[in-house]
Amino acid sequence: MIKILLLLSLILFPNISVFSAQEINLYTARHYKSDKELYEKFEKKYGIKVNYISSKGKVLIERIKSEGEDSPADILFVVDAGNLWKVQESGLFQKIKSKKINSVLPENLIGGDNKWIAITKRARVIFYNPNITDKKDIESLSYEDLSLPKWKNKIAIRSSNNIYNQSLVASLIHHNGMRSTKIWMNNFISNFSRKPQGNDRAQIIAVSYGEAEIAIANSYYIGLMLSGKKGEDQKNAAKRVKIHFPNQDNRGTHMNISGAGILKNSPNYDNAVKFLEFLLTEEAQKHIINNTFEYSVLKNIDPHPLLKQFGTNFKQDDISIKILGKNNPKAVKIMDELKWY
Ligand code: FE2
Repeated sequence: MIKILLLLSLILFPNISVFSAQEINLYTARHYKSDKELYEKFEKKYGIKVNYISSKGKVLIERIKSEGEDSPADILFVVDAGNLWKVQESGLFQKIKSKKINSVLPENLIGGDNKWIAITKRARVIFYNPNITDKKDIESLSYEDLSLPKWKNKIAIRSSNNIYNQSLVASLIHHNGMRSTKIWMNNFISNFSRKPQGNDRAQIIAVSYGEAEIAIANSYYIGLMLSGKKGEDQKNAAKRVKIHFPNQDNRGTHMNISGAGILKNSPNYDNAVKFLEFLLTEEAQKHIINNTFEYSVLKNIDPHPLLKQFGTNFKQDDISIKILGKNNPKAVKIMDELKWY
């Protein structure tokens, strides 16, 4: 009788092992309520339970290190190529073996050794208030132009310990070389409107109120602010600003990612691969970007309407996310040297 039941369950639920619970353990730096719905969709589809803990990326990485070989973590999901590269460098990831992933993701969105991948994209853009700053002055701006004397005391940007800025500088080092990036940075820093302070949204707010003419921040923050999820004040501040996508006349706007990798001691490797494949399906991508205001890594998926209004056909810098990681130490070094606090 037991044998028959076992056989029946295998036929009826081929994805569910009768010997051990099917699960994955996800460590995520994302704090979106909507992620829970996404996990439920996955659980329903594959019969694999998603156990997750969410915390700051750094905390999760430390936790994985201290858990060592006994770590239950299968997947680490964090923001920024720089962070994912550091985890790879610490030897904590293993190869993601999936033909599906390699066929849907462009080569530049796959990390070193196939050990981490992009799940979403975000642009690091220029925000301005068209009532204060003439559109003509902004129209063809590149990151490089931000070192010109005409922008003296006019640029708001957060501190250099922020990984988004480190990755932007990593891309500049790749395109322009160390020497030229250092010269650029020296002048760029002298154009700051104030000592770097606050997060990306604080820079957008500064521009909205005319405390600075230009803010550099990630694209999705404007969607978040316009959505009202951050309160009426931020919504009204966001309504006064516009996005400019830098470097449209040449390589395109600097793009970064949120992404994930499978951990070296993952106890549920096959399930982890399935989960990452699921995150790259159209269904999951639409769900994610409609809640986070990021851009999809798949072609032909429009961003949320709050982002779409700023344009979707902008040129994106398509350098490899591996380079953003590899150049991170050089970026940090010159940012420290030149006192970008
Ligand atoms: Fe962010």
